Amino acid sequence: MAELFSPFTLKSVTLRNRIVMSPMTMYRSVDGRADDFHVMHMGARAAGGFGLLFPEQIAITPDGRTTVHCGGLYDDDQVEGWKRTTDIVKAMGGVSAIQLGHTGRKGSEVAPWEGGHQLAADHPEGWECRAPSAVPYGGEGAHPVHELTVEEIREVHQAYADTAVRAVEAGYEWIEMHYAHGYLGASFFSPIANQRTDQYGGSLENRARFHTEALDAVRSVIPERIPLTMRLGADDLHPAGATMDEAVAAISLMKEHGLDLADISAGFNTPDMDGTPLGEPSGFLDRALRVKREVGLPVGVSWNLGVPANAERAVRAGLDLVFLGRPALANPHWPVWAARELGHESPFDLVPEDYGWWLKNFRGHAPSIGWPEPAPAAEVVDLDAAAAAVPHQQRPRVTA
Ligand SMILES: Cc1cc2nc3c(=O)[nH]c(=O)nc-3n(C[C@H](O)[C@H](O)[C@H](O)COP(=O)(O)O)c2cc1C
Repeated sequence: MAELFSPFTLKSVTLRNRIVMSPMTMYRSVDGRADDFHVMHMGARAAGGFGLLFPEQIAITPDGRTTVHCGGLYDDDQVEGWKRTTDIVKAMGGVSAIQLGHTGRKGSEVAPWEGGHQLAADHPEGWECRAPSAVPYGGEGAHPVHELTVEEIREVHQAYADTAVRAVEAGYEWIEMHYAHGYLGASFFSPIANQRTDQYGGSLENRARFHTEALDAVRSVIPERIPLTMRLGADDLHPAGATMDEAVAAISLMKEHGLDLADISAGFNTPDMDGTPLGEPSGFLDRALRVKREVGLPVGVSWNLGVPANAERAVRAGLDLVFLGRPALANPHWPVWAARELGHESPFDLVPEDYGWWLKNFRGHAPSIGWPEPAPAAEVVDLDAAAAAVPHQQRPRVTA
């Protein structure tokens, strides 16, 4: 059987497979709340067979949102809406994860399809962004940012903890810290954005202090059964930025502070990136496998793993979880489709029992129900080089 469909256990949580719906900001919240849209969005993908499901980066403070239309859990009255989404995910056999985030110097924006630009602090839908240093993101058109004081950093850590408590109340069974994509955690880690000279800047240990303290704050208020993970902007892809060597050292430190899994992504601390691997299926896979090898933590990764055979090969190479963003938007039933493509013996067992019963027993003319026989082999990229980096793993060949 495809290893993509094997269960995965972390702490006391067991996922039905290795397929994760990656966090994706939807810009559809009112005052940070979830509503019918989010119940539909999450419920459809849970019914489609995803094992672990994130809604989007959920802000820990109002100024931690990307836009005023982004999700938050900084008020008790936001718990109820998000609880509706975790209830439907659970009812459909999935596990709900939350990505706790603060956008730092990348907040106060408008939605990407409206230009994605930053609004001034005095705009009715804008605010003054806060960051490790008073260095705006992206140069031209960016507005001044406020450098956090040590006291304010403590308040941010308290906000992480308070939000984590609300997340548990809302039914989340997995908590991820968002330390990637140029947001607050990513910018503390990056020498491009962090130019502090106090205990939160300079050396690697200092640049990782924000992260280890936030992990401590969250771990101290959530039940032991809940996995505490993070997505790290592990590589700035810029000569002046954070490097993979630093990421490996920082993740080792975070492991000592209760980190259970690392999801490896890019720093995005500058628009000026070199040799970006973001368009390649194995772009971050080799980086994630290096973390697994050298730190000894379970790892996940996203970016271009939507061809089922590539996702399967990534797991066989040693990746613990495959995060899918755009493929999950495009096809809520991606896991069932992938199961068909990979020759799973019973793909319709991945959907809720009642749907599955009809699909298995009343198949009729298969193409007419939207589940034609598997398509001819899609383009498969050779991930064997990445697989070779995990010599202790068995790597049976997959034919696509
Ligand atoms: C609409 C959209 C919104 C996103 N929002 C987030 C987010 O809130 N947090 C995050 O960590 N990544 C976010 N991402 C990145 C995805 O989680 C994922 O890492 C990325 O799309 C690469 O995976 P893919 O190639 O499977 O799409 C977003 C991506 C998309 C397409």
